[in-house]
Amino acid sequence: MEAVKGENLVYNEVDEILEKYQDEKTPLLAVLQDVSRKWGYLPRDVMGYVAKKLDLPSAQVWGAATFYSFFETEPVGQYMVRVCKSAPCHVLGALNVVRALEQELGVKVGETTRDGKFTLQATSCLGVCGVAPAMMVNEITYGNLTEERIREVLALYE
Ligand code: FES
Repeated sequence: MEAVKGENLVYNEVDEILEKYQDEKTPLLAVLQDVSRKWGYLPRDVMGYVAKKLDLPSAQVWGAATFYSFFETEPVGQYMVRVCKSAPCHVLGALNVVRALEQELGVKVGETTRDGKFTLQATSCLGVCGVAPAMMVNEITYGNLTEERIREVLALYE
């Protein structure tokens, strides 16, 4: 099992998740969401195990994992910073936000800080265009971003 110690323990935990959704007609998405919440991403071996247990082709599970932008298929930092680059945010300075985040975190988009704390990702509309430019840190959305506000927000996670 990659990235997770104790293979049997991991499979037991995946079994618990699968059991939770055993009465669902199409449990795949809910299962992947729980796996993602638990490990912060979708380990390949776990996806293979889920495919086997749900009797689905691996390609279907992989397809779901890569289709939705809220799933990660590689290990990520403790805090996932998603900066919106869609048009309304772009017009109101998303590129400056990206630059400021890259400078503050010392990584480029798509990278994780050396201490494993932050992963920086670009994403499409977060649904809060009224407060563009915007970003999310894990589940929390922050808008009206300026360089100063970005520093304040990141300080909350230091
Ligand atoms: S375009 Fe950025 S939140 Fe909608």
